[in-house]
Amino acid sequence: MSTAFLSNRVLGIEPSPSIAANALVTELRAQGRDIINFTVGEPDFDTPEHILQAASAAMQRGDTHYTATTGTLALRKAISHKLERDNGLVYGLDEVVAGCGGKHIIYHALAATLNLGDEVIVHTPYWVSYPDIARLNDATPVIIPGDETNGFKLSPEALEKSVTPRSKWVILNTPNNPSGAVYKEDELLALAAVLRRHPHVLIMADEIYEQFVYGDAQHVSLTRLAPDLKDRTLIVNGASKGYAMTGWRLGFGAGPAWLITAIAKLLSQTTTCPSSVSQAAAVAAFAGDQTPIAGMREVYQQRRDRMMELLAPIKGLTFTPPDGAFYVFANVSALMGKTTESGESIQNDSELVAHLLKEYGLATVSGAAYGMSPYIRLSFASSMEVIEEGCRRLKEACQRLR
Ligand SMILES: Cc1ncc(COP(=O)(O)O)c(C=O)c1O
Repeated sequence: MSTAFLSNRVLGIEPSPSIAANALVTELRAQGRDIINFTVGEPDFDTPEHILQAASAAMQRGDTHYTATTGTLALRKAISHKLERDNGLVYGLDEVVAGCGGKHIIYHALAATLNLGDEVIVHTPYWVSYPDIARLNDATPVIIPGDETNGFKLSPEALEKSVTPRSKWVILNTPNNPSGAVYKEDELLALAAVLRRHPHVLIMADEIYEQFVYGDAQHVSLTRLAPDLKDRTLIVNGASKGYAMTGWRLGFGAGPAWLITAIAKLLSQTTTCPSSVSQAAAVAAFAGDQTPIAGMREVYQQRRDRMMELLAPIKGLTFTPPDGAFYVFANVSALMGKTTESGESIQNDSELVAHLLKEYGLATVSGAAYGMSPYIRLSFASSMEVIEEGCRRLKEACQRLR
């Protein structure tokens, strides 16, 4: 009955599955269950001290008012500085915009550009929100199936085939959530060559995990390699992951001034500006001491290595080592069709996720949430003890499936 009041827009999407998975963990723990949480999509570190100090100083000096919609001058300068320092890219102050998280920027960028019937190209496994944000804005997500043998990366051939006259955006996410894939220079150059042939397509480069790359992997921005695409590329990034600042809700977009102006126009009618205190904190994050980031990266690398070591002997589960972000996207196809001790047959990754949670108190996210099955996403953004206990439970669960 109450759905009669709801818009088709809202009825046509699902709640974010990763947020739902995490909320379920909170609920089960509140009921007293012992849950190991491998669904975590955020750093478990506290925000570095110098960032807290900057926020505190901002509050004390009275920086508690509305700011310019695109962000304070200090923040836009800090973002511009960060892009030059970390990515070798030059963006003017009218080419950057701050928002309440990277997700907020993605939403506003799509809302500012999409019309009914437009297509948004997304490849699997994709970050859960891209297709629904496209749908919310009357567009059709065009989903390119991923290929693990290709390291889960979008190939130039698949991209070429998916472009139509209605294509408005292609979304590239490197380092990738959930696969951990990090595109190499030659792979980006090959995609750039395709995109060059289709000047009507905008490019969204979601680089929110850029600080977390492991081993020999290196993060490179597409527009660094293909500067001619800069006038139709929007870089999305923010403070959430790299600076352990998810709760501050501070992200940014960098792109051509016409697009930034359009996003700002929309933001002026929705959120006005991000929190002034979060903006002051983000100035310290982007322009201040970067050493805490290297420390966090080091710890993630150790956790990743340990998780891979513990997962490797588990029968029925295989994985491609993640080069970036903080997830292992494990292939569970060998477990499909197996039977649990209570006689239930596991037919898909969502049923496996439910079984792991119910019988072993291990929370994971199904590949289905990322458009690619049968997989499960395991986050290593938690302590070594949690990683070890979670992998122990996973091993036991897999052993007992017949
Ligand atoms: C790939 C990707 N992009 C964007 C975001 C949005 O992050 P935020 O809105 O916290 O900046 C996330 C968050 O999980 C993500 O995983």
